[in-house]
Amino acid sequence: MAGNSFGKLFKLSSFGESHGIAVGVMVDGCPAGLEISEEDIQKELDKRKPGSGIAGTKRKESDSIKILSGVFEGKTTGTPICMLTYNEDQKSANYEQIKNLFRPGHADFSYFKKYGFYDYRGGGRSSGRETLARVAAGAIAKKILARHGITIAGFVKAIGSIECKREFSEKQLEKVYDTELRCPEIETEEKMKELVKETAAKGDSIGGIVELKAFNVPAGLGEPVFEKLDSEIAGALMGIGAVKAVEIGSGFRAAKSLGSENNDQITAKNGKPEFLSNNAGGILGGISTGQDITARIAVKPTPSVSKKQKTINRNSENSEIEVIGRHDVCICPRILPVAESMLALVLVNALMEQKAQKLG
Ligand SMILES: Cc1cc2nc3c(=O)[nH]c(=O)nc-3n(C[C@H](O)[C@H](O)[C@H](O)COP(=O)(O)O)c2cc1C
Repeated sequence: MAGNSFGKLFKLSSFGESHGIAVGVMVDGCPAGLEISEEDIQKELDKRKPGSGIAGTKRKESDSIKILSGVFEGKTTGTPICMLTYNEDQKSANYEQIKNLFRPGHADFSYFKKYGFYDYRGGGRSSGRETLARVAAGAIAKKILARHGITIAGFVKAIGSIECKREFSEKQLEKVYDTELRCPEIETEEKMKELVKETAAKGDSIGGIVELKAFNVPAGLGEPVFEKLDSEIAGALMGIGAVKAVEIGSGFRAAKSLGSENNDQITAKNGKPEFLSNNAGGILGGISTGQDITARIAVKPTPSVSKKQKTINRNSENSEIEVIGRHDVCICPRILPVAESMLALVLVNALMEQKAQKLG
């Protein structure tokens, strides 16, 4: 199975299945001398850990990370960094009864068509569990970015039709992981909680929108034409399971605006350029402008629902399915750290490419 690696200069390869022995990642291209500890990685992993919160799966995993290589005396050595966590709470028996049935909305049908064989236990590689690898690698990317003053944050903007319309500053987003659904607007989060509870009681699931921001990104990152920064970000975010759309800046709203409204006018203040708005989401011509980078992802409702649905078996015979087991009612709170990590991985690659370009 190809397609398990990401990045050019700062590269990662993820491995492992939902109900296999372990999930992990190999990171290559990390500069030497970066201070990194298992605690640093763990802190990020705990943000996506299953088993907490009303919207998340009840699967209990400690997700405790082990760094197997590439770090010596608390610093990266410049050699490949291998990180691994063992799966602890797989209940593969839940999948025995449905192993010949394709779960609607999940990847079972398409994996079967492609490979003729797949690990049906918890979705195998297509499981949300794989995203642990991205968060572990993203933790290192975030550390590199922080050295350059770049930070990444986000929040759950909408669950179903309950939407938070406010903008948040970097400071306001710092404590987003203290909230249960990762929405910093308390009244909106309360309504979201109600909706999640109602949905779960009906044996159903619900989708939403996650917003991301990268602060203090220098102007000039990104390669024009085929590797535009916005296309790299869109590809990275779309590569996360359950993401069905990506918007940069004003996104789909731009299609309904006039040019004079959507253009971010530029002025000079004390000899420095200043944009009067940020509809571009911090990127013009595929290159960062120095404004905050903003992106939003549309996250579909979790495919596995306990409501009865029509499906077929491997012999294309009609059947019905009720997916039992432990699933996220809404993926949004757990996808946030994954999306932040993918954005960090794109930016760290763009930063390295920009540094390399200046060597000439
Ligand atoms: C963090 C995360 C958690 C997820 N949790 C579940 C889950 O509990 N149950 C489920 O059926 N799908 C879950 N998914 C979604 C599936 O992985 C995804 O829908 C499936 O691979 C099909 O891919 P697609 O939605 O991109 O087409 C999760 C995805 C992510 C990123």
